[in-house]
Amino acid sequence: MTYEVATDNIFSATSVVASGFVIATASTNFTAKVDATGLQAGKTYYYRFKAGSTVSPVGKTRTLPDSTATEVKLAVFSCANYPEGFFHVYGLASKSDAQYALHLGDYLYEYPDGTYPTAATGFRKHQPVTEIYSLDDYRTAMPSTNPTPI
Ligand SMILES: [Fe+2]
Repeated sequence: MTYEVATDNIFSATSVVASGFVIATASTNFTAKVDATGLQAGKTYYYRFKAGSTVSPVGKTRTLPDSTATEVKLAVFSCANYPEGFFHVYGLASKSDAQYALHLGDYLYEYPDGTYPTAATGFRKHQPVTEIYSLDDYRTAMPSTNPTPI
């Protein structure tokens, strides 16, 4: 598949600043890593992948400031536990003066439904509801009937 990095989210001909070919196979669990080069410091970029006629959703990222920066404001998140929270802090962070959002991991945990040690509500179910163990388990989509995080 190919990837593109652009300065706008419509990938106009003059906005694409990096592109290339990347392979995702069963041996990499159909994941791919791109180290886009030639990007400017402290700038917002958009990226997408294409495989045949299929185009991925557009992602947005921002490069770190250059070495003359004296500070960087981060919004740092971890341990989200998707089935248990409302996550309104994401909205608050998006309205803050944070320049970057850094998620350290744990969007959900592997515990079977209702057994997480601090389970309060369990109102948003992950699938499968049994212990999440395999890569396929983790890649199983969240049911569309779940409440949307606010
Ligand atoms: Fe955690």
